[in-house]
Amino acid sequence: MSQSGTVHEAVQRVLIDSDTLQSRIRELGQQISADHAGQEVTLICILKGSMLFTADLMRTLDVPVVVDFMGISSYGASTKSSGVVKIVKDLEERIEDRHVLVVEDIVDTGLTLNYLLNALTLRKPASLKVCALLEKPARRQVEVKIDYLGFTIDDHFVIGYGLDYNNHYRQLPYIGIIRPEMVSE
Ligand code: PRP
Repeated sequence: MSQSGTVHEAVQRVLIDSDTLQSRIRELGQQISADHAGQEVTLICILKGSMLFTADLMRTLDVPVVVDFMGISSYGASTKSSGVVKIVKDLEERIEDRHVLVVEDIVDTGLTLNYLLNALTLRKPASLKVCALLEKPARRQVEVKIDYLGFTIDDHFVIGYGLDYNNHYRQLPYIGIIRPEMVSE
């Protein structure tokens, strides 16, 4: 595949290729399906980064699922470390007494997920679990339980498969490390 003159040029190195992603996602799907046998699951896709992961993950599940979406934004870069996030698009359906699986692309400091789980717990779901594709333990500030995890990665700036830099590169079908010269501080 030629990668010249394309968005692929922003990538210094492919960290997790497409086949590896899909094969791990199939394993996660089997585990989630087995753990939720006899249940109907509400998948909550956290926009925007989780959209590709959610779409692929749900295709591997053989229990009944409904999918809902939540959009969040932190209050600007300087306050991101506070962990206070704003819900900019809320769920359309109630989750009370439902089996809920939050689908995240990446857990970094853990602050976003910690905030979200606290907010969702107040809605009294029957169960509340987390499936994250990636985690960066080096940056963790708050402990959050990830029930289903795709990959643990080192502290690289990663793009692709939903993850962005300035809202770009989400379409890459793999997880890549961005070229440092593409990043402006
Ligand atoms: C990313 C990711 C998580 C959060 C993780 O979202 O999707 O929601 O950051 O970071 P944390 O563990 O340090 O809180 P982002 O704000 O980049 O939004 P996006 O998914 O729309 O790109």
